[in-house]
Parts: sequence; C-alpha cells; structure tokens
Amino acid sequence: MIKTVYFNKAENCLEVIDQTLLPTKEEIVKCHTELDVANCIVGMKVRGAPAIGVTAAYGIYLGLVNKKNLETKPTLEGLLEQVCDLLAGTRPTAVNLFWAINRVRKAVLDLHTGDLGEAAKKALSEADSILEEDLAMCRAIGRFGQEVINDGETWLTHCNAGALATAGYGSALGVFRAAKEAGKDIAIFADETRPLLQGARLTAWELMKDGFDVTVIADNMAGSLIREEKVQGVIVGADRITSKGFVANKIGTYSLAVLCKYNGLPFYVAAPESTFDMTLKYDEDIVIEERNGDEIRSFNGQQIVPEGVKVYNPAFDITPPELITGIITDKGIIEPIFGENIPKVLGKKEN
Ligand code: MRU
Repeated sequence: MIKTVYFNKAENCLEVIDQTLLPTKEEIVKCHTELDVANCIVGMKVRGAPAIGVTAAYGIYLGLVNKKNLETKPTLEGLLEQVCDLLAGTRPTAVNLFWAINRVRKAVLDLHTGDLGEAAKKALSEADSILEEDLAMCRAIGRFGQEVINDGETWLTHCNAGALATAGYGSALGVFRAAKEAGKDIAIFADETRPLLQGARLTAWELMKDGFDVTVIADNMAGSLIREEKVQGVIVGADRITSKGFVANKIGTYSLAVLCKYNGLPFYVAAPESTFDMTLKYDEDIVIEERNGDEIRSFNGQQIVPEGVKVYNPAFDITPPELITGIITDKGIIEPIFGENIPKVLGKKEN
C-alpha cells in the first residue's frame, strides 16, 4: 500500500511522498521539525484534507520533541500554541487540519504536565491514532460506498481523493478500491484537475498502480461525457462539509454536481467524519483558499497568459446539498441530505 505519510521511529522523523514530483519521480521527503512539516503542507508536497490533518498531528510532536533538550525550556502551553498556530496557518479550507491539531492539542493539555518529553510522547501516540483511524475510516467508506457501484460500470472522479490524500486507501478512490475488491469490473475516468493536475498526476498514478482501467480527460470534457452517459455517476472527496450538507471540495466539483443533476446521474461525496464541520451550517463561513496566480499563468514551466493579464485562482468551490445524491461516510451513506440526516447518521450534534 502507498505510504503517503509515515512516521520513521528509527530516525525520529516524518516521511511523506513528495506529491509535487509525481508521476515522474517517487521521492520521499523527511521532516525533522514542525517547520519542515508546515513547508510540506504549504508547498503541496502533501495535500488532500485527511492527509494534511495526519501530517500536522505529527508536526506537533516534532515541535515539542525538538525543544525538550533546550537549556532554557519554553513553557509547554506557550510552545504548544506556537506550534499549533504555525501548522494551522498552512492552508485554510480543509477542516481535517484544524480537527487533527485540536485533537492533539487537547490530548497534550489533558495530561496536565509541564514536562516536554512526556507531552511529546502523548502527541506522538495521538498522531499514530489519527493515522490508524483515518485508514479504518477510509476502509469503512469503501465498504458502504461500493454498494452504489454495479459490475461493469464506469465512474468519474475529480482531483485526488485517494491513498495520496489520506493515510492510505482513500475516500472516493477507496469506494472504487472496495468495489474492485468485491469483484466488480469497473472503469474510472479522472478529470485532469487544472491548475495543479491532481487528477492527471496523482489519481491516474495510484489507480494505475492498483491495476484499474483509468482514463484521464481534460476538465472541459466532463460535460459531454456525462451527457452521453459514458459514465454512470461521479464520486468526489471533500475538504469541509457543514452540518446542512454544503460541501467544499476542489474547484470544479460544483460544475460536476450541476452536470449530474441536469443529466439525472448520481453525484456522491465520500468523506470521513473528520471532514464534517458541525460548527458551520451554511457555506458563508467556509474560507476558500486562493492560491498564487502563477499556477494559472504558466503550464509546465511555460507562460500561457499574456504578461499583465489578471488571473483568479480559487482552490475550492462549494456544492449545495440539493445537488448531492448522498454523502458516503464511515458511519454509512447519508441520503438524502436533509439537515437532520447528517447528525443522525454521524451520531453527532450540530454545535
Ligand atoms: O488542493 P488539494 O489537492 O489539497 O485538494 C484536495 C481535494 O480537493 C480533495 O478532493 C479533498 O481534500 C478530499 S481528499 C480525501
């Protein structure tokens, strides 16, 4: 299995696959400090909502363990806040990042210790649990989700919600993996996902490695594919889902949902519990990351936009619940998405 994020205990460092180099180079980056971890997330070496949550959790451990032998030891609480703030400032949209940071922070504070060594040990065990739980949640998503796919079908996905975007196995791609493991013969179309090409570079890479029949299309081809029913439905991941079912995911997701609605095809979102933000009801308060315009201005190192022309580069969009057939979670499929169905399936209250 692909080890997207792996804690190397012998070298006391976090190893991540450098996703900016895929599919042509498979290189591991070793993170020894919280700053290394933050840089990996900002630089998109590791990306995808659950994967950045797991990575940040280990970042807290590295931030604490490296300071334990300093002569003037900082206070635990001050240091913890500093490390958590650094990691929380890396990317704004995926709630899994803040969820994982808060979880490790709470586990450490609940120890009521001032001892950095002890605190670091707790941070590491909590990060290990987050990783293990993420893997288990992806497997559960797969088990529930594979029911919506029939033998012989072809499905479309967008961006990368696979092993590379999680601790392993994937959410949307986990559903495809589980369908294949259940003996269904399926084929997948992957949108290339401009501007950073997560579909072409990452989804195609990991599905091909697993022996899937995978075909990459340019993003603007999805409409005709859906209209001509060359696919039987779409499954995507999510970066944040509100308690009323508004879904933030990679830019281009909303257009696919509209296309599916118009053409009567199912549109599913696959996401673990850690992607739900029960503190938000609607979409207004979701911060959509806007990335550097150079990602639009150039392609493959070559300038493609005339000098001086404005560009706009939001990384995510929001799909309202009425366009979504169902949300496949590790607790079951939420379908239809009425506000009350979300807390009911998750066993969580809105707050
Ligand atoms: O900008 P990215 O590559 O981090 O965006 C990733 C996505 O939009 C994924 O679909 C989402 O995080 C779900 S990953 C299981």
